[in-house]
Amino acid sequence: MILLDGKAVSAKTKERVKNEALNLKNSGIEPALAVILVGEDKASQTYVASKEKACHACEIRSIMHRLPENTSENELLALIDLLNLDDSVDGILVQLPLPKHINTSRILEAIKASKDVDGFHAINVGKLASGLDGFVPCTPLGIMEILKEYKIDVKGKNVCVIGRSNIVGKPMANLMLNADATVTVTHSKTKNLKEICLNSDIIVAAIGKPFFLTADMVKDGAIVIDVGINRLEDGRLVGDVDFDSVAPKCSYITPVPGGVGPMTIAMLLANTIKSAKNRAKA
Ligand code: GUN
Repeated sequence: MILLDGKAVSAKTKERVKNEALNLKNSGIEPALAVILVGEDKASQTYVASKEKACHACEIRSIMHRLPENTSENELLALIDLLNLDDSVDGILVQLPLPKHINTSRILEAIKASKDVDGFHAINVGKLASGLDGFVPCTPLGIMEILKEYKIDVKGKNVCVIGRSNIVGKPMANLMLNADATVTVTHSKTKNLKEICLNSDIIVAAIGKPFFLTADMVKDGAIVIDVGINRLEDGRLVGDVDFDSVAPKCSYITPVPGGVGPMTIAMLLANTIKSAKNRAKA
């Protein structure tokens, strides 16, 4: 069993990002990412702080907007408009979840698709589904990067994606399909999940339930990717995979922490560089 070291792949990706950012700066383009956080959600505050820190470490200008919980939808839309129009801004990210009084899809669709480094805008979702170049959500993109780094080819492999979220499950399925895998997307209502998993060469667990994937669901030699980040009552951080029992059966597996998690921010930075390169070409 080989551990897929997302922390190491993330560090390598960030090093590449930093070099590309320096090259862009030398040609007069300073890559810039705008991050908007609305409200006081603790987890979101932590994520946003990590994104800001990663930008600084990789020579990307970070533009932080921390807005109060009672910010109106129109005020948020007005800020997005300003950032859309600002040619010095390459990426715009609105941290989710948003407060309940704000319509999330209206906000996500207001971000200019060419600055949508999260890959959540319908134009980018459609491009990914059509196999066209666009922005791809960072977590599934990070998983593809890990597989590439370990020279794992998914062509012709049976892949089971557990979870159908817009952020992970659906884009993961499309990336795998575009890479010639045979993909089954499963979720909480799937009836024969165990059977599908046992028939899978690669399982991506993104369902948000601690210890959900157990050893009896995994065939010998399978590759298991754990997207879960679950905080237990005792404070421990665990994935969606029952790692201790599943790992001995795997050819490769991602740990939690140190697997998929570190890749998300690295790919956000990579998407920001991609956007800045588009600006340099324009
Ligand atoms: N909240 C949890 N994950 C994400 C993400 O990838 N992007 C944004 N914008 N918000 C999130």
